[in-house]
Amino acid sequence: MPPFCDPSPPSGALAVEGGYPLRGMAQVSGSKNAALGAMAAALLTTEDCYIENVPNIGDVHYMSQVLRSIGARVEWAAPGVLHIDPSQVQDVAPPSHWVASMRGSFLVMGALLGRFRRAACAPPGGDVIGQRPIDVHLQGFEALGAHVWRDEERFVAEATELRGAPIFMDYPSVLGTQNLMLAAATARGTTTIINAACEPEVVALAHMLNRMGAHIEGAGTHTITIEGVPSLKGVVHRNMPDRIEAGTFAIAAAITGGEVEVRGSAPKHLCALIYKLRQAGVEIEMGEDWLRVKGGGTLRPLVIQALPYPGLATDLQAPMAVLLTQAHGISYVHERVFDNRLLYVGELRKMGAEVVTMGTTTAVITGPTRLMGASVRALDVRAGAALVLAGLVAKGRTIISDVHHVDRGYEGLDKKLCALGARVERLTLGQG
Ligand code: EPU
Repeated sequence: MPPFCDPSPPSGALAVEGGYPLRGMAQVSGSKNAALGAMAAALLTTEDCYIENVPNIGDVHYMSQVLRSIGARVEWAAPGVLHIDPSQVQDVAPPSHWVASMRGSFLVMGALLGRFRRAACAPPGGDVIGQRPIDVHLQGFEALGAHVWRDEERFVAEATELRGAPIFMDYPSVLGTQNLMLAAATARGTTTIINAACEPEVVALAHMLNRMGAHIEGAGTHTITIEGVPSLKGVVHRNMPDRIEAGTFAIAAAITGGEVEVRGSAPKHLCALIYKLRQAGVEIEMGEDWLRVKGGGTLRPLVIQALPYPGLATDLQAPMAVLLTQAHGISYVHERVFDNRLLYVGELRKMGAEVVTMGTTTAVITGPTRLMGASVRALDVRAGAALVLAGLVAKGRTIISDVHHVDRGYEGLDKKLCALGARVERLTLGQG
């Protein structure tokens, strides 16, 4: 069985030699964020769960450690198939250092509250992309009848009984919606989540929970209804493809003037991206689970807004900004989801990009610019991928350090790019 991906040490780096158009077929891995939700959902039962199409990435490794730390058995049953045996889970307070290693770990709070009526978790970690409060999660737990308080480093939620209730979310938070679905699945009575997030990863979690015996309707809309059931059973669940990885390959094909068929992804989850790429002049054909992206023409500048689904995904905002450095004219990038997700701009400028920021949520990009290879840092998972794309089109060699951020979210990005004709090399300590 494959070992868990052990994310490269912080000193790991990628060296990218720019100037090679990508050509061929890229197979998309399972979704990072949907896998984290599915792993948390397994805690709601005492029976075995098998999750197929799980990427072997750093965040899955961290989430496995969180589950193991409270007594679950987590192992690869086969490549890409994660077996979770949650029967021995008794501890409801995972160690804070594991929870703090990532954002999705906080989903164990809703699952443990649902199963044991008690959970204690440190505030989650995650990328530095702005304020990331968890108030909608905690308010939702309270609405379900839990008493929630802060006990030194942890949030504690406890309920003698969880009762279904209407919950209005101030913001359609993705993890917030998932956490409340997990907690409400076994609450007594009906829960209605109003202003719920409608991202495909929310739909995927509802689908898995329903196959475990839950009664959830409306996922994919802004109103989700959950009829609580007494208990849930084990499941074999197939994880959805990673729409962000698929989008990243599409942008990579466009930026290098290549032609790539992105397979195993659902174009219906990428409507906004496809629309904007076409608006920029990129040719795209698609079928039910593939898209073929052809670059090479003159790129037109764009105005893009990163928004909740079905708006353009914030996780594709940085890769799109890199593409727009190659467009002819002035582009505007507005980040509307997180309040500080343009930090990568400083790194992009080291490569010669003409980008100015207005506040922390708008970037103005003048193109086209001949990017030049430079030493840059991956500041978070998506910013790291964006810099890899910049390296693909830059003149000379780009060294991207802190590549453990990229490894947290992309399965073998360097190998997949090399298979498409890119020159990407993994450097270990002391190389470069
Ligand atoms: N927000 C609140 N209150 C809350 C929760 C969120 O005001 O209680 C605000 C945040 O401040 C932020 C906005 O809501 O401005 C969006 O946050 P959301 O809660 O929707 O994001 P998330 O659930 O923490 C997930 C993904 C992110 C992805 C966002 C948006 C996981 C593990 N993370 O985060 O993925 O960007 O949804 O789609 O599912 C990534 O994969 O690189 C990544 C950051």
